Amino acid sequence: MLVSPNLSDNLTPNIEIKVFPDGESYVRVPGIRDLAGKGAALLHRLYPEPDKSIFQALLILDTLRKAGAKPTLISPYLPYARQDKIFLEGEALSSEVLCRMLKLAGAERLVTLDCHFMKKEGKSVYGGLEIESVSMGNVLLEHARMKVNGEELEVISPDAGAAYLVEGHGGKSMKKVRGEYVEGEETYRRIEKLEGDFDVKGRNVLILDDMISTGGTMLRAVDNIKKGGAKKVLCAATHGLFLKGSLEKLKASCDSVFVTDSIPSPVSEVKFMPVLKEKGIV
Ligand code: R5P
Repeated sequence: MLVSPNLSDNLTPNIEIKVFPDGESYVRVPGIRDLAGKGAALLHRLYPEPDKSIFQALLILDTLRKAGAKPTLISPYLPYARQDKIFLEGEALSSEVLCRMLKLAGAERLVTLDCHFMKKEGKSVYGGLEIESVSMGNVLLEHARMKVNGEELEVISPDAGAAYLVEGHGGKSMKKVRGEYVEGEETYRRIEKLEGDFDVKGRNVLILDDMISTGGTMLRAVDNIKKGGAKKVLCAATHGLFLKGSLEKLKASCDSVFVTDSIPSPVSEVKFMPVLKEKGIV
């Protein structure tokens, strides 16, 4: 197993990644000769600093490919996975470009967690790349049950894209509608509507999503559930990017917020490596 330094919170790194004085990335895979003709699991995060981390992955994959290895890239969070549709003419289909580049560089397969554009657990081919999306939904739910001391818990997803995370547990989904892009340098589509009329009065509720980015979705969902008179409101997601101070805002608005360590954060309470081990992926 090859481990990048950006996963040192989970495993001991055995790949070197450094920077040249001008900021360009340097990578080296010690003992690469032994990998010729063999499958190799490469654990490397593609976030934070997605553009830089992606380029490092391309360098490692290409180096492995040239040495005759057959690498499976294991990246817990797949950046650019939300740009999977063309909204305005002339936009880049970033999710597909990324997968195609990973394949071209030498990835035989990609394993990731709750891949946004797949909207389900399982295998698929996208941009010519074989992808396996492993869901963290069950372990997040188990963790939530522990937090409410085994009391009953309703599970709700804040939009249809995350419905697969809750459906197996009798959960329902809210309806989210995004509007046009906001003006300015930053590209973001405002949430126009987020609704769901559920009977949550006096009940514990877990709102479960694939990711919390700016927190806009989760904050609206919490507001909605609280207005319905819920007892405890818990928020969880596989990936916690927590941009724009959203972790503090969420902590202040609900009873508990937690995510996995796909992206390290102060509330990465659920580990992803045991899930990959249980599935025989690592
Ligand atoms: C979107 O469809 C995803 O499932 C998440 O709901 C979304 O990406 C979260 O983004 P934000 O935290 O910025 O609302």
